[in-house]
Parts: sequence; C-alpha cells; structure tokens
Amino acid sequence: MSDAHTRRVQAQFGGSAAAYVASGGHAGGDDLERLLAWGRACRPGRALDVATGGGHTALALAAIAREVVAFDLTEPMLRVARDFIRSRGAANVAFAAGDVDALPFRDGAFDAVTCRIAAHHFANVGTAVRQVHRVLRPGGSFLLQDILGHDDPDANAFITNVEKRRDPSHVRSYRAAEWKAFLRAAGLTVIDDAVVRKERVWDEWTGRARMTVEARRELEAFVRQAPERCRAAFDFKLTDDAIASFTDRMLLLRADRD
Ligand SMILES: C[S@@+](CC[C@H](N)C(=O)[O-])C[C@H]1O[C@@H](n2cnc3c(N)ncnc32)[C@H](O)[C@@H]1O
Repeated sequence: MSDAHTRRVQAQFGGSAAAYVASGGHAGGDDLERLLAWGRACRPGRALDVATGGGHTALALAAIAREVVAFDLTEPMLRVARDFIRSRGAANVAFAAGDVDALPFRDGAFDAVTCRIAAHHFANVGTAVRQVHRVLRPGGSFLLQDILGHDDPDANAFITNVEKRRDPSHVRSYRAAEWKAFLRAAGLTVIDDAVVRKERVWDEWTGRARMTVEARRELEAFVRQAPERCRAAFDFKLTDDAIASFTDRMLLLRADRD
C-alpha cells in the first residue's frame, strides 16, 4: 500500500478510535451474528481478526476461539481495542500492528481469519486476500463482511462519492461477483454467503468521521442534489432540513482455503 494511503487511513481512524468502540453499528447486529454463527461452525483454535478497529469482532471471536490475534494498521485503534477487550475480561486476545498487504504471521498459522467492515479501505484487495489465504491453514475459513457494491453504476458512483467525501480513506466497495473472483483467484472457495441490511444514522455516521461543518454541509447538498433513484437505492431518509439515515447492504462470505 502506498505511504500516502497508509497515512490517510491512520489519520482517519487514529482520531476516531474511541468513537469506533462506542459505535452501535460496530458493536453488534445481524451481521456480526451471521459471522459468529459461521465462526462457531469452524471451531477455530487460532483466529486472526484483520482490521480489528474498535475490537468488537475480536472480542466476539474470543468466546469461540482458543486464541485470537487482533490486527490493525492504526496503533491508536489497537490501543483502544486492547483497553475495550480487556475491560470485558477476555484474556485470550493478543494485539499486532501492521498492514494486511504484508501480514506478519507464518504460513498456515490460523484456523480462521475474520475481516469485518474494513476491506473498502484496502488499496489492493487482491493482495489482501492472497495474504489471508497464506496465513490460513488448508481447510481454514475466511469470514468476510464488507459493504456491498451496487450493481447500478450510477448508484454505485453516487455512494462512493458520498463515502469519500465523508472519509478520504474509503477506496471502494465491491460487488459479490468481484469478491468471489478475488477469493477464487487466491485459492479460497466460497461455501456460504448472505446479505444483511445495516442502517447508518446520519449524525452518528458523519460525526464519527470528524467532518468539518463546511464539509458536512457540502456533503448534504451533494446528497440532496443527487438523482432520486440514487438516494432511493440506499433508502436515504430526508426531512426538509436534515438527513436522518441511509441503509447499506453488507455482503458476508465464508470462503475456505482449498
Ligand atoms: C471500521 S474499522 C473496522 C471495524 C471492525 N472490524 C469491527 O468489526 O468493528 C476499519 C479499520 O480498518 C483498519 N485498516 C484499514 N486499512 C488497513 C490495512 N491496510 N491493514 C490493516 N488494517 C487496516 C483501520 O485502521 C480501521 O481500524
């Protein structure tokens, strides 16, 4: 990953780390339950949570796996995740900093790897997936969740623009067929999938990104001026003077190493 993109991610998340621990959308929901159900079926001994953020997925994994490594590019994020996970009494979680492009683990080290609501920040998803494949043991499971790219190019361009205005470290979201191609090319076979809707409450979503008043005003004007069918694709809820929420579809995939 380029140094510039690394700095963008670290600047974006370093200042918002506590807000990710507090975020209700990250703390749980149908999406995390789906991922955990797959995780329980894998019965992992060692599990890796890539891009752990505030640590909610790693904490949930700690109840399923013997050992968990929570991994993230942003050190302040890892620090708040460590405090949060320890405050919940989980003693089987270790913490490691680094880039998914070069995972600092030996080949076949993990029975399961999770990556939840993060891959849209990765500069090179193909490289990331090859790294996940490398650190999984044969037969091990990759449990992925990310924002689903929209099939309509206009709706997809609209939401990518909204995301990038809110968070410059957003790269893009992929459609299911694109994800399946990345996984297949790396030697991972998709054995289950699901799509779960997740509502984003606008004030919380924009607040967590620490937007300036001016940037938020411009973003809201951009949303209001967009074609109605683009807003409708994400179920934007607007009143005369505010944006209340929109809804993302989250893609979940379980892919096992051949
Ligand atoms: C929204 S948070 C993840 C949420 C978390 N997985 C959960 O379930 O609550 C996104 C995280 O991805 C991390 N990240 C982004 N790019 C990364 C990369 N190339 N390697 C590792 N972590 C990365 C960021 O530092 C940030 O902490």
